[in-house]
Parts: sequence; structure tokens; C-alpha cells
Amino acid sequence: MRIVCIGGGPAGLYFGLLMKQAYPAHDVTVVERNRPYDTFGWGVVFSDATLGNMHRADATTAAEVERAFNHWDDIEVRIKGRTMRTTGHGFVGIGRKTMLNILQRRAESLGVRLVFDREVDSDLDFPDADLIVAADGVNSKVRARSVTHFKPDVARRPNRYVWLGVRKRYDAFTFDFRRTEHGWFQAHIYKFDEEHSTFIVETAEETFAAHGLAEMDDAASLAFCETLFADVLGGARLLTSARAAGGASWLNFSRLVCERWHLHNGKSHVVLMGDAAHTAHFAIGSGTKLALEDAIELTRQMSAVGHDAARIGEALAGYEETRRVEVARIQNAARNAMEWFEAVGRRYADQLEPEQFMYSLLTRSQRISHENLRIRDKAWLEGYERWFARRTGLEVAADARATPPMLTPYTVRDLTLPNRIVVSPMAMYSATDGVPGDFHLVHLGARALGGAGLVFGEMTCVAPDARITPGCAGLWNEEHVGAWRRIVSFIHARSPARFGMQLGHAGRKGSTRLGWEGIDQPLADGNWPLISASAIPYLGNSQVPRKMTRADMDRVIFEFVRATKWSAEIGVDLLELHYAHGYLLSSFLSPLTNRRNDEYGGSHANRARFPLELFHAVRAVWPKGRPISVRLSCHDWMDDGNTADDAAIFSAMFLDAGADLIDCSSGQVHHEERPVYGRLYQTPFSDRIRNEVGVATMAVGAISEADHANSIIAAGRADLCAIARPHLADPAWTIHEAARIGAGAVTWPVQYERGRLQYETNLQRAAAMGPPTR
Ligand SMILES: Cc1cc2nc3c(=O)[nH]c(=O)nc-3n(C[C@H](O)[C@H](O)[C@H](O)COP(=O)(O)OP(=O)(O)OC[C@H]3O[C@@H](n4cnc5c(N)ncnc54)[C@H](O)[C@@H]3O)c2cc1C
Ligand SMILES: Cc1cc2nc3c(=O)[nH]c(=O)nc-3n(C[C@H](O)[C@H](O)[C@H](O)COP(=O)(O)O)c2cc1C
Repeated sequence: MRIVCIGGGPAGLYFGLLMKQAYPAHDVTVVERNRPYDTFGWGVVFSDATLGNMHRADATTAAEVERAFNHWDDIEVRIKGRTMRTTGHGFVGIGRKTMLNILQRRAESLGVRLVFDREVDSDLDFPDADLIVAADGVNSKVRARSVTHFKPDVARRPNRYVWLGVRKRYDAFTFDFRRTEHGWFQAHIYKFDEEHSTFIVETAEETFAAHGLAEMDDAASLAFCETLFADVLGGARLLTSARAAGGASWLNFSRLVCERWHLHNGKSHVVLMGDAAHTAHFAIGSGTKLALEDAIELTRQMSAVGHDAARIGEALAGYEETRRVEVARIQNAARNAMEWFEAVGRRYADQLEPEQFMYSLLTRSQRISHENLRIRDKAWLEGYERWFARRTGLEVAADARATPPMLTPYTVRDLTLPNRIVVSPMAMYSATDGVPGDFHLVHLGARALGGAGLVFGEMTCVAPDARITPGCAGLWNEEHVGAWRRIVSFIHARSPARFGMQLGHAGRKGSTRLGWEGIDQPLADGNWPLISASAIPYLGNSQVPRKMTRADMDRVIFEFVRATKWSAEIGVDLLELHYAHGYLLSSFLSPLTNRRNDEYGGSHANRARFPLELFHAVRAVWPKGRPISVRLSCHDWMDDGNTADDAAIFSAMFLDAGADLIDCSSGQVHHEERPVYGRLYQTPFSDRIRNEVGVATMAVGAISEADHANSIIAAGRADLCAIARPHLADPAWTIHEAARIGAGAVTWPVQYERGRLQYETNLQRAAAMGPPTR
């Protein structure tokens, strides 16, 4: 088989040598535009896991690479005059040149033909090849020639960065953050050989422009960075690589994904590999790993089809299918980390104290959690837990184990919650004429006994026609007041939990069947008329709502105010207004459901006009010492819908109006939504709103373990965590999760204390035995 690799970076060289090693009869050529042993760049980092994969693929190369590795465990963070350090993180760094030289030598020794100094313009330059590997980097000419086939999607990211070197060894992966009059800069610094470290400087586009860096030549640019980072450089000079994609040029990272990875050009099979196929931001340093693992996988697929030229297409299909999944996984993690660095100046550096800033940095990809940090550096994590607990007013002895973040108290206005876990509002469709009955008492009572700091009742409707279904709970008459009073009184008398009332109006999503009889489906009979911002039905078969008149608005405000006064009277501790999920108030905020051309539609200010008017009316009658939260759909998951940008704008408006918390949910505004689900998938909205707008937040959505909640609270991504479905499975979620992480800080009902010791002992025994074996 004749194989040509275009591009002699990690992907092209490694694939060439692996194929030659696997099947020496192959004729393999690697064509590179640079001269031999001449390349751009400084060091790259990757993990021990990648090295393990390399060992299995070719032990000789892996051993050489390993010998050249620089290993280190520490991360150091420098900000606002503080230098903080944690250990146990396990990185390896290697010079890009060293690495390529090893690959080149190994390739040559196996009989791979290396052609240097040759610029390839097209895959058609090698008509005799059976397989052409386009390993020609992120600006691949091969990919560009067949752009309509590969369909690359390139997203140019807003930050600027420059890849520099320094003749100085840092003994930790060092992040240095510096504030200037125009914004923040950060340096990512890591050693890669006996003398040198990589030094990447990054900043936001506005900051880059405001400093005039675009107009500076290399020398001026370097001088600027040397002055800015003089402290961490300690007299060392920054270096540019003559060929580092243009000296000291400042680049924008481009995130690349391709719809297809291979084709047949009429003569040869052509396949994309490494950066030509996909990119991952240097914030998690995985570009080289992906390139090498691509090469390993394609070799494996070729071996699986017996290195048979007639079956190359099959191997390429298998390669693409397998690698696509892994690449998406890494790109996802890289995206969170990249966005963290893009937002650092707007969101974290000024807002968070250095300790919490460091925690946020360490958990930026949302893949490293609180308990991962404990495994890596127990002493540091426990120190951080003590710091955090003290911040919440708890007293912690110097060597004592502190209350974990999710179990620390939280105070807002005059309300103090015993911990940060919230039973999220959940409609139970079990009320009669809006009256919550025994079911609600037992259901909510059990969850209050289960340890959560705040228990929400379900969306409680302010009028009969405000209900979603005939089974929804309400608060529009005296009977409702009495029924809710019974529940609130029970919770206050029998548990330390506080009670939250969520008031809502279903709007165009009303008059539908009970949840388990056909969600969002209109009633078979007995439907009531609906109102909404605009006369747009939810589903094709939904009732068409009436566009609200001013008189309708006045009536709805009256109903909310009435329910608010009653809530205050019966001792509700926190009021939440439901502005999410496509219900009445949400229908004003989203452009998908608000098509009005009066003063209640169009701009953000207009769309928020009625919702804010209602908010003010409620705030005016709600006791001053008690907080109000606002639940928002922070993303409509639709092309023309609201996004986190809009949610941030609305959050600022509600904050201004006196809201204490934004409860960051998403979606359910349009039935064709395409949400991107996943663990903690709505938490980034909370993180952004909390730290950019400066308002307390509640995170919700796929938070299912103490580890998740601790990570979110500790990082300052939210002040509270609302947990919904896990509380359906387990009313005592908080008690159980606290026991699982060995935290004693949660109150068990005295009546249940006798069960506690046995439960905790059993968990400890199970943990000591390790995972079950087969
Ligand atoms: C600032 C920065 C920091 C990074 N840090 C890390 C890190 O810490 N860890 C990590 O794993 N990755 C890191 N990367 C990414 C990493 O460098 C790439 O992901 C990796 O090199 C991809 O390998 P590749 O072989 O696909 O492409 P490349 O390494 O880009 O190699 C492509 C090769 O093709 C050659 N070529 C291109 N066009 C032609 C042509 N027309 N004809 C002939 N030859 C051609 C080029 O000269 C080059 O040698 C970083 C990248 C940047 C920009
Ligand atoms: C059965 C059920 C009923 C719900 N009812 C409400 C509700 O009344 N009000 C509301 O704002 N959200 C409601 N939700 C959404 C939850 O509060 C929560 O935002 C969502 O389930 C995501 O959290 P989770 O992943 O922890 O379940 C409901 C969810 C479920 C599962």
C-alpha cells in the first residue's frame, strides 16, 4: 500500500511510523514544508494516560518520549499579589521540537521516507497513493480544497494569545494573572526541558486593542509582556520562535469541527487527522494528544481490515466513527476551560477572592470536581473547605474538618438557610381545585425532614385560569391559604428547613392534562381560555391564547399581589416568581413567544416591562426582610430565542428591581428546542449571571451528587443548588449524600437519629471494601 502523509507534525509522523511498524511492506512517505528537524513552537503538555496509549502502540517511541519528559505535580496561581500552590495534578511536558525529532528518527529507522522543504498544494499531487493523510494542521490546504465535502465549522474565539518561550524552569504549572488599566492578562507557564518553559500570554480582544498591541512589532510586544510579567519572569527574557507562526504574532484560537473526515478523490482515499480534522484549546492542552490518538486509532482500524488496500474505505469509516466521539468529549471539556479564560477578566479575577478564584480555575472544565481535588491534594482542599466555611460565619478549628460547602449556611436578607440544598419546585398534579392536600403535606414534609435547607412547593397558581392542569396547586382563596398554612407550619415546627413558595401563571401552556396523562396536551373537555404575550399556541393542537390586554395585565398583577400577601401571612420564608419555561411571564421575555409591537414587545426593556411591573408590585407588598428569587429560562435552545446573553440582561434588570436570587433554569419555551443536556448543564448560566451581573444565584439541572453541589458552591458558580428529580427518588437526599461524603453537619430528625449510626457505619464498611468484584 502506498501511503502519503501531508504534514510532518505529531499526527503525520506518528501515523507514518505506526503503519510502517505494523506492516513494513507499506511504502510510507511524510511530506513536510519545513526543513528537517526544524519546527515552530515550544513545549506541549499531556497526561500520563496518553503515554499509556503510546506504549501500547509503539513501546520504542513511547520510551524515548518518556525519557525526554519533564514531569511535575504542582499548580501555582499568582493573582493580586498572592501566590498559591496545590499539588497532585500530574502533568508531563515535552518540547515540541524534541518530540518531533524523536518521531522523525523513529520514522526514518523504520524506513519511512521523510521529504522536507516541500510545500504540498493538493492531495491530487500524489495520484499513485492509496491513502493520503491530511495531517497538515489547522489551516489544512487539503481540507480547504474539498471544503464542501468536509464541511469544516470554524469558530474564531475572541481572545488573543501569543506562544512564547523563556529560558527559565518553573517547578509548577504556573498561571499568572495581571490587571492593567485596560483589563486582565494571563500567562500559562510550564517547563518542557532542562532549560526552557513555554510562556503563553492571553488576553481579551478589547484589552489587546486598547493597549495597541495590534500595531506593535515583535520587539515592542515582547517588551510589553516582559514588563507586565516582570515579577514571575524574575529577570528572564521572553523568547519568540522564529517560525512560531510568525514570530511574536498574537493569534485567535479557532475551534474546528468537520462534518466529514474522509473522501475518495478519484485516485486515492484522503483522510483528515489531528488539527486538520479538529482543534482543542490549549487551556486543557490536548491537541497533541488528539493528534497522536487519531494516528493510533487509524492504524488499529487498518490492522483490523488486514492492511488491505481494497478495504481502506471501511477502515476510514471506523476511524471517523470512533474518534468523533472521543474528540467531541475533549472539545466539550476544552470549551468550558477556554470560556473560563475568555471570561476571566469579566467574571472572576475582580469578583472572586484569590482562594475562590483558584478553586474556580482548577475546576474550570467542570470535569475536575471537589472530590477529585481531595484525591489530588487533600491538605489543600481541606484548607479551602475551612476557608470557605469561615466565610459563611462558621467557626472552624485550625485542624478540624470543616463543614463541606453545600452544607454551610446561607443568609439572604433576614433569612438564614441551614444549608445550600434546595428542593426544586416540582408540580405534583395532585391538588383538588387548587387545594394542596394530605399528599402535599406528606410529600413536602418528608423532604423537609430529609435535610434540605429550603423546600419549594410546586408552581402555585395565582388564579384558576393560571393553572397548567386541573391538578395544579393554587393560592387564590381562603381554603388554599389554610391548606398551605398547615404545610408551612409543619415544616417550621418539625424541621430546620425553610419554605419557598413559587408563584406562577401558566399562560399559553395552561389548560392541559395531568403530567402523566399527556404533558402539554389540551384537556379532553372543560378547557378554560388562555392568555399570553402574543396569540401563539404552544403545540400545533394547543389552544390559541389571547394576546393580553392592559386590563389582563392589571388583573394578573392583582392576583400575584394577593397570593404574595397570603404567602407572607402564612410564614413563607422565600418567594419565587416563575418567569421561566414558557409560562405567562416567560412568554413576555422570549422573542419566540412575544411578537408584540407595543411597549411590551421588541427590545429587552419592552419585553421586560410587564414582568418588571409585576415584580415591583409583588416586592412592594412582600416583607422587606424576606427574599425573592426569580426563575428564568436562561437559554431557549432555539436559533432565534433568548440565550445566556439575554438572561444576563434580564437578571440585571431584576437585580435592580430588588430580586435577591436568580434561579437559573432553561428551555421549555418552544417545543422544537434543542437543549444540550449533560451533567450540570445549566450551571454555566448560573456562573455567568452570578459573577458577571453580581447577583446571587441558584443552580439547577442534572446536579445529582454531593460532589456536584460542593463543586458548584465552592467555586462560586452559585449560592444555592436546587435538586429536583433526585428528590423524587429520595426525600432524604441531603441526609444521605452528607453521610456518603462523611459529613456530620446535617440535622437528622431526632426521631430518626437511631437510624443514623447504622446508616453511616454501613456506608463506611462498604467504602472500606471498595467496589464490588465479579
Ligand atoms: C499556543 C498553543 C499551545 C499549545 N499547547 C499544547 C499543549 O500544551 N499540549 C498539546 O497537546 N497541544 C498543544 N497545542 C496544540 C498542538 O500544537 C497541536 O494540536 C498539534 O501539534 C497537532 O498536531 P498536527 O500534527 O495535527 O498538526 P501540526 O502540529 O500543526 O503539524 C502540521 C504540520 O504540517 C505542515 N504543513 C502544513 N501545511 C503543509 C503543506 N501545505 N505542505 C507541507 N507541510 C505542511 C506544518 O509545517 C506542520 O509541521 C498548542 C497549540 C498552540 C497554538
Ligand atoms: C415532576 C417535575 C415537576 C416539575 N415542576 C416544576 C415546577 O412546578 N416549577 C418549576 O419551576 N420547575 C419544575 N420542574 C423543573 C425542576 O424544578 C428542575 O428545574 C428540573 O427538573 C431540573 O432539575 P433536576 O435535573 O434536578 O431534575 C419540574 C420537574 C419535574 C421532574
